[in-house]
Amino acid sequence: MAQFTLPANSVVKPGKTYKATTASNNTKKIIVYRYDPDSGENPRTDTYEVDLDTCGPMVLDALIKIKNEVDSTLTFRRSCREGICGSCSMNINGSNTLACIKSLEECKGDIKIYPLPHLPVVKDLVPDLTNFYAQYASVKPWLQADTAPPPERERLQSKQDREKLEGLEDCILCACCTTSCPSYWWNSDRYLGPATLLQAYRWIVDSRDEATGERLDELEDPFKLYRCHTIMNCTNTCPKGLNPAKAIAEVKKLIAQRRN
Ligand code: SF4
Ligand code: SF4
Ligand code: FES
Repeated sequence: MAQFTLPANSVVKPGKTYKATTASNNTKKIIVYRYDPDSGENPRTDTYEVDLDTCGPMVLDALIKIKNEVDSTLTFRRSCREGICGSCSMNINGSNTLACIKSLEECKGDIKIYPLPHLPVVKDLVPDLTNFYAQYASVKPWLQADTAPPPERERLQSKQDREKLEGLEDCILCACCTTSCPSYWWNSDRYLGPATLLQAYRWIVDSRDEATGERLDELEDPFKLYRCHTIMNCTNTCPKGLNPAKAIAEVKKLIAQRRN
């Protein structure tokens, strides 16, 4: 049987344990991935016992409590605390999701928190999204139209055309879907991944956009689009309930239709 060995400095080691400082019986263990590239040390998992009686209801509240009261070096992204900005995406108990809308109550037992998978780690729970954003920019996510808009008013859209954007314009670019996709793990240099493809489709179906043909030309590529094998992890994990796999299927359909 083939045997694989990880480089010694990539092995995640057990780290420190921080007991709750209060006498509460209502505590939860939160086990968090820690990595500081400047330290030269291996990644580790630290365990924090959090008093739920003095903590807000969400996983992000627990992380903020830990950072404020126990360990100010713990590093993670967050901004809106409302599931709107997409900053707090991370892997909680094995699933990619947003920490600010994941309730502590629905996490049974200890909670294990890691950064989004298969991305380089900047520090602790902060992944490097440089490639993700460059891929997003590559699909030109803005309106392209040579026709001038009507003077002194917006470009109008019918109610039916606006409805085509439902479930697409709600994407907050949290990258939960893309980093859950096995095809993306193996080909992230060339496969655009579900979030970017959903965004590409959002502009393809926008009735005001006039670059549909060029957009489809760009995507008609064995790697950029066709590495999607409909595994569906993306749709299953999206914390906003969107369906990137369907958006990808629609792009494939449009390309197939224009060939006939
Ligand atoms: S489709 Fe969902 S999971 Fe993917 S980036 Fe958009 S909001 Fe996040
Ligand atoms: S449906 Fe496509 S994009 Fe979604 S997880 Fe599967 S391979 Fe990845
Ligand atoms: S903090 Fe903005 S989505 Fe979680």
